[in-house]
Amino acid sequence: MTVAVYLPAQDKTQWWVEMLQGLLPGWDIAAIDEIEDPSAVKHAVVWRPRAGDMARFPNLEVIVSIGAGIDHVLADPELPKGVPIIRTVGDDLTQRMREYVALHVLRHHRDMPRQLQAQAEKDWHAIVVPVAPNRVVGVMGLGNLGAAAAKTLAGLGFAARGWSKSGKDIEGVETFAGADGMDAFLSGCEILVNLLPLTDSTKGILNADLFGKLPKGACVINCARGGHLVDGDLIAALESGQIKQATLDVFHQEPLPADNAFWANSAITVTPHVASQIDAATGGRLIAANLKIFAETGTCPDMADAARGY
Ligand code: NAP
Ligand code: GLV
Repeated sequence: MTVAVYLPAQDKTQWWVEMLQGLLPGWDIAAIDEIEDPSAVKHAVVWRPRAGDMARFPNLEVIVSIGAGIDHVLADPELPKGVPIIRTVGDDLTQRMREYVALHVLRHHRDMPRQLQAQAEKDWHAIVVPVAPNRVVGVMGLGNLGAAAAKTLAGLGFAARGWSKSGKDIEGVETFAGADGMDAFLSGCEILVNLLPLTDSTKGILNADLFGKLPKGACVINCARGGHLVDGDLIAALESGQIKQATLDVFHQEPLPADNAFWANSAITVTPHVASQIDAATGGRLIAANLKIFAETGTCPDMADAARGY
């Protein structure tokens, strides 16, 4: 079995090659740029492959995304049609996202940016906020990560809401579905967390129209993809006070360029796509297991649906 590995950083690619060689003895595993016989490649393990990378392999049977999202694979305009995609998910990734969402929702809920500003000014300024059950927090996307995040928020006592395409029952969470349920979901939502996949229908969903449907002074947390956000609309909404604070983990261009205005905006917290970066050793074990299952059965429980985009 020849497996081609690609990540944008060459040292990381080499690290993944060596780890997978250790986990899959007897398999032929190499960095994509060192493959000598492209026709031998049946599996590709990738993060943000370059345009045309996958098209080089005429006998490719499966692509593994090193991560939950598959948008970075589907972004390749030359992607061969019909090659199945496995995503990498699991307890490690879910736990990390639960931690990130809890941290930043609590931070906005307790108005920590304002409290820290008061400290800097040596100002004994007591900020009293509503108790969590009186704070409406909404999660967009109720898949592996969104559902777990919504459950975590409900567990902390928040008035937790969730929104997805087809609707979902989650204990302790009020759920809404589809375009028809969107306005009701957004209305009254004081802290909004985005955990949607990036697809044609979700691109740019965090825009002026959506911000206008939130109560004035709402906070937004984007930990899905930069492409969900219309950057200029966020800046305008922060300037008008429609949005009070934002936490952004993902960006149109990563790393976020040094001259991007988000860095210096005191109403924005920037984190460098770390909300839930899977631990590489754990990810390697999951990917090796999925490759073995796929090689034996032609499928695997973590298959993404390329046609729907997630
Ligand atoms: P998932 O399991 O594929 O779930 C996606 C959810 O979004 C589903 O509930 C789906 O609804 C809903 N959805 C899709 N399109 C929709 C639409 N047009 N309108 C309303 N709801 C829609 O995804 P996941 O594993 O939870 O991951 C979500 C995203 O998080 C990933 O795609 C990735 O971009 C991002 N992510 C970020 C990080 C980070 O570190 N920042 C880490 C991991 C993942 P249905 O249930 O009805 O299908
Ligand atoms: C990270 O962003 C992922 O998709 O797992």
